[in-house]
Amino acid sequence: MSRAPAGAVPRYTSYPTAPHFHAGVDDATYARWLGGLPADAALSLYAHVPFCDTLCWFCGCTTKTTKRYAPVAAYLRALTAEIALVARHAQGRGTVRHLHWGGGSPTILEPADVLALSRSLRTAFAFAPDAEFAVEIDPRGFDGGRLDALAAAGLTRASVGVQDFDRAVQSAINRAQSFEETRAAVEGLRARGVRSLNVDAIYGLPGQTVESLLRTLDGVLALAPDRVALFGYAHVPWMKAHQAMIDAAALPGAEARLDMARAASARIAAAGYVRVGLDHFAIPGDGLARAAVDGRLRRNFQGYVAEEADALIGLGASAIGGLPQGHAQNASATGDYARRIGEGRLATVRGYALRADDLPRRDAIERLMCDLKFDARALRRRHGAAAEPLVAIARGLVAADAEGLLAPEDDGFRVTERGRAHLRGIAARFDAYLGTGVAAARHSLAV
Ligand SMILES: C[S@@+](CC[C@H](N)C(=O)[O-])C[C@H]1O[C@@H](n2cnc3c(N)ncnc32)[C@H](O)[C@@H]1O
Ligand code: SF4
Repeated sequence: MSRAPAGAVPRYTSYPTAPHFHAGVDDATYARWLGGLPADAALSLYAHVPFCDTLCWFCGCTTKTTKRYAPVAAYLRALTAEIALVARHAQGRGTVRHLHWGGGSPTILEPADVLALSRSLRTAFAFAPDAEFAVEIDPRGFDGGRLDALAAAGLTRASVGVQDFDRAVQSAINRAQSFEETRAAVEGLRARGVRSLNVDAIYGLPGQTVESLLRTLDGVLALAPDRVALFGYAHVPWMKAHQAMIDAAALPGAEARLDMARAASARIAAAGYVRVGLDHFAIPGDGLARAAVDGRLRRNFQGYVAEEADALIGLGASAIGGLPQGHAQNASATGDYARRIGEGRLATVRGYALRADDLPRRDAIERLMCDLKFDARALRRRHGAAAEPLVAIARGLVAADAEGLLAPEDDGFRVTERGRAHLRGIAARFDAYLGTGVAAARHSLAV
């Protein structure tokens, strides 16, 4: 078992972060929270499909491999029951503005099941006519039947997993994926009217060099996606045992990772993309790019979003929901999840009920992750005197900054280009929980 490296920090897709969730938030709590949703709440639904055909060794997602379809079909029965159960607790409140299927690989679903799952969701919840429907797509084995089914289910945005096109890197991560099959998936989506495309790529993978990464990115840019997500590989074998399959000696060091992040960002920016938050890029007219430029960008469990829903409802094993009252997470193991749903109860096993003193910190961390700015005036406007301890932290950071990571602004600061690689560490200074309890050593390296 490896140990967590020093200096590990979270990605702040929530505050407090998931390691601080506890069993005090259970199915009864979540039922109460759902029942208290405002009637006019804007809802975002996330459905998790925790299955893949093969396991990529770098994978940090909650998934498992299966060669048979029976476990997927059994899981879908539980998911369908959960959808109806959650909708009953929500009692018709709220309108769905966003639907996202993630995984694992939702593209493992057979076409008939794609349609059935979409029907269950649209029967159980009220959808806005222009609701967005996004799906994470593994281009390997993504055939015409699945393309047709997703298009018929109303797909509006596809997030296509590339990671890396280099053959040597692919063999070091157990993911063989040609440029041609990726292009075929993209063309198939476009031919069916799916206009909005995101591509995921990763830097810091074993055997990767700046040159090989730039070649991958040239391939990604040739696909002309609206958005590119460029994640830094999170090597956490103490949490994801299969990552031990990766030869640690082949992993780029911190300095090489920094060179990769900088070279990759410059290449994507040179192609005309706007930088969005920590690790995203978007073409200037894209909703995410506009939100980033206007300071409206939000961050939740799904990463960056252009507009925050009043409630994010997580469906499926391990799915996390964010309601005004707090965060709630379902049982992670598919068996445990299905058993709970089979007993007719919600599958929530842990979560976090937000306290008043969490709110200014959550706000400050989210704005840093989105705008790369600490704006004391805006924080005071939203939180009054409760902002002062955070303003004091910000002042202390600026005073102690000898490396030019921060540029002072009014009572706050902006994170400089140099400071960008340290963004998560800077945000962590406003986290009241980091370094406490079980969470202390569980996150990955920041750069
Ligand atoms: C659920 S997967 C995407 C859909 C599909 N399963 C696929 O791989 O094509 C979500 C994304 O998380 C990113 N990811 C997974 N593990 C990661 C890790 N350890 N570090 C950084 N990014 C990771 C990958 O870029 C991946 O595309
Ligand atoms: S990266 Fe995607 S395809 Fe690979 S194991 Fe993870 S979820 Fe599955």
